[in-house]
Amino acid sequence: MKMKSYFIETILLVIIVSPSVAIVTPPPPGPPLYVFGDSLVDAGNNNHLQDPAPKANHPFHGVDYPGNVSTGRFCNGYIGSDYVAMCLGYPQSPPAYLSITNEFQTLGGINFASAGSGILNSTGEGTLSLATQVMYFEGAASNLSRRVGNMAPNTLLSKSIFYISSGSNDIFAYFFGSKNQTNNQFIATMVNNFRLHLTKLYNCGARKIIMLSTSNIGCIPFIRSLFPLSSGDCSEELNNLSIQFKNETRDLLQNLTSTMPELRYTFIDTYEIDSELRENAHQYGFTDLTNACCGHWKV
Ligand SMILES: *[C@@H]1O[C@H](CO)[C@@H](O)[C@H](O)[C@H]1NC(C)=O
Ligand SMILES: *[C@@H]1O[C@H](CO)[C@@H](O)[C@H](O)[C@H]1NC(C)=O
Ligand SMILES: *[C@@H]1O[C@H](CO)[C@@H](O)[C@H](O)[C@H]1NC(C)=O
Ligand SMILES: *[C@@H]1O[C@H](CO)[C@@H](O)[C@H](O)[C@H]1NC(C)=O
Ligand SMILES: *[C@@H]1O[C@H](CO)[C@@H](O)[C@H](O)[C@H]1NC(C)=O
Ligand SMILES: *[C@@H]1O[C@H](CO)[C@@H](O)[C@H](O)[C@H]1NC(C)=O
Ligand SMILES: *[C@@H]1O[C@H](CO)[C@@H](O)[C@H](O)[C@H]1NC(C)=O
Repeated sequence: MKMKSYFIETILLVIIVSPSVAIVTPPPPGPPLYVFGDSLVDAGNNNHLQDPAPKANHPFHGVDYPGNVSTGRFCNGYIGSDYVAMCLGYPQSPPAYLSITNEFQTLGGINFASAGSGILNSTGEGTLSLATQVMYFEGAASNLSRRVGNMAPNTLLSKSIFYISSGSNDIFAYFFGSKNQTNNQFIATMVNNFRLHLTKLYNCGARKIIMLSTSNIGCIPFIRSLFPLSSGDCSEELNNLSIQFKNETRDLLQNLTSTMPELRYTFIDTYEIDSELRENAHQYGFTDLTNACCGHWKV
């Protein structure tokens, strides 16, 4: 008799406690993916921002995206955050944070990236700075606690992938700005701010980070268009700043492992990949290295 009533109580407890929605929502195919950064990974957040935030909601952006539609991606087709998501079993990038209307859209993660934004708050007027993106993530993480209880979110977050690509726009802003500091001071400021953002993410439960370095930013079509008379070459000064920043980002991650023992990271040296692609373009199927695919500097 005692036994029986115990069982009934247990069953009642299970029915009451388990969230009714969990049964109808299929689990995501892979670990949740959280994306932070700039136009290289923005899947549409800037469409929801006012000017002067840059937008890719017009042709020929998306000309190779299914349906030939511009989605806010600064690209002819899918972007890096889409391909990483596909590797995890998703059809494309998790939804842009500002497009979310229902929390259940966020089960596979969220894309916080904002084109034109940077590691420094002063970079990219009107965009979501990395600080703002991290702040939005903190909100999402606390929603997760509310939804799944206090212990589970940390388990979930520790399995999640944090994909980060930022820094180029800060270097551009510095390059075109007043240069009231030395390169070393500027890079140190960027790295110190980056450390703060990464520390917040870790303290919120992030454990697995994929970090993309800045690339050959002195070679992008916009920069080349500024030097048409000097043979349209790359800006060596910008490339040097990029190399210096990526070297220090790699050191920063390595250093953080001493204070963040559970941190696991992959550093992707985009600069080296970019250089290899440029040197052996034809081998990789590229025929045009100087013109833009779809933005303002398309010729
Ligand atoms: C894609 O759309 C643009 C404008 O909306 C159009 O000019 C272009 O021809 C289309 N491209 C393809 C491949 O359908
Ligand atoms: C950057 O902005 C965030 C909030 O958006 C703020 O918390 C932080 O203190 C700012 N950082 C600096 C260095 O001003
Ligand atoms: C978090 O919850 C609040 C309150 O329900 C909601 O307004 C907000 O959109 C949620 N954010 C995310 C990222 O789920
Ligand atoms: C340099 O100028 C920028 C604004 O253009 C300012 O935010 C920054 O604090 C200045 N840095 C130094 C070292 O004075
Ligand atoms: C870039 O770095 C290289 C190697 O350190 C150096 O030789 C070159 O002078 C630098 N160029 C500029 C424009 O700073
Ligand atoms: C960047 O790191 C590479 C490899 O570790 C090194 O050869 C190079 O001198 C470094 N460059 C700068 C500017 O720090
Ligand atoms: C990493 O740690 C080394 C040794 O303590 C230090 O010299 C270097 O400045 C640190 N670099 C960064 C980017 O934190």
